Amino acid sequence: MTAQLNARGDVAVVVPAAGAGVRLGPGAPKALRLLDGRPLLVHAIRRIAAAPSVRMIVIAAPPAGVEDVRTLLADVAPVTVVPGGAERQESVAAALAVVPEDVAVVLVHDAARCLAPVSLFERVAAAVRDGADAVIPVLPVVDTIKEVTPDGAVLGTVDRSVLRAVQTPQGFRASVLRAAHAAAADSHTDDAGAVEKLGRTVVCVPGSDHALKITRPIDLALAAHLLTLPDAD
Ligand code: CTP
Ligand code: MG
Repeated sequence: MTAQLNARGDVAVVVPAAGAGVRLGPGAPKALRLLDGRPLLVHAIRRIAAAPSVRMIVIAAPPAGVEDVRTLLADVAPVTVVPGGAERQESVAAALAVVPEDVAVVLVHDAARCLAPVSLFERVAAAVRDGADAVIPVLPVVDTIKEVTPDGAVLGTVDRSVLRAVQTPQGFRASVLRAAHAAAADSHTDDAGAVEKLGRTVVCVPGSDHALKITRPIDLALAAHLLTLPDAD
């Protein structure tokens, strides 16, 4: 059944989904690979569309797959699909360009984090609504982290208590994200990083184990297991 979005919602979600998925191994673009019989993108969009604040969803699709993505999602939720770019940042910019000016809050969410729970979208959006320019969901770093030389000699141990692993959805006041993208020269900067470079404050909210990014084959196995569990924060 097609989900309905909230016409009175104040949030647009931009979904970069144009990547190849090289680290997942040969096959279709990552967003179209299957998890429990459905493309990752369908899992992601179902959760986004169920978030009560969401008015609009814009997907940056693989350029050759724009029509396929429209067809795939026709019965899932109302979405706008644009061709993505060669770099993630270009894909985000292409999708952001079609978000109307009257949308106050923009969330940027990787299709590859397809099990991010509804509650996480609402938590990030709420923090932007409460006044933050930019909001990132984070988890503590669990591994010991070493700084090493290029040939693998250990220089030292990093204090992991001050480190966080960053997820998506990342949330922004729409005008701040637009300004950050306009100013971003370094194509490897993530969205929140571009906001940091503007000198604006980025705040953290608790992330979710379910928002893991499917990157390597083992992540697909883990995600298949997560699907058997109830959604969690
Ligand atoms: N992405 C995008 N446009 C690109 C590159 C990436 O929209 N040119 C999206 C991916 O589709 C994904 C998200 O950005 O949803 C995070 O990127 P990543 O996990 O690196 O995905 P891929 O680039 O597809 O994977 P890989 O780097 O292994 O090829
Ligand atoms: Mg990539």
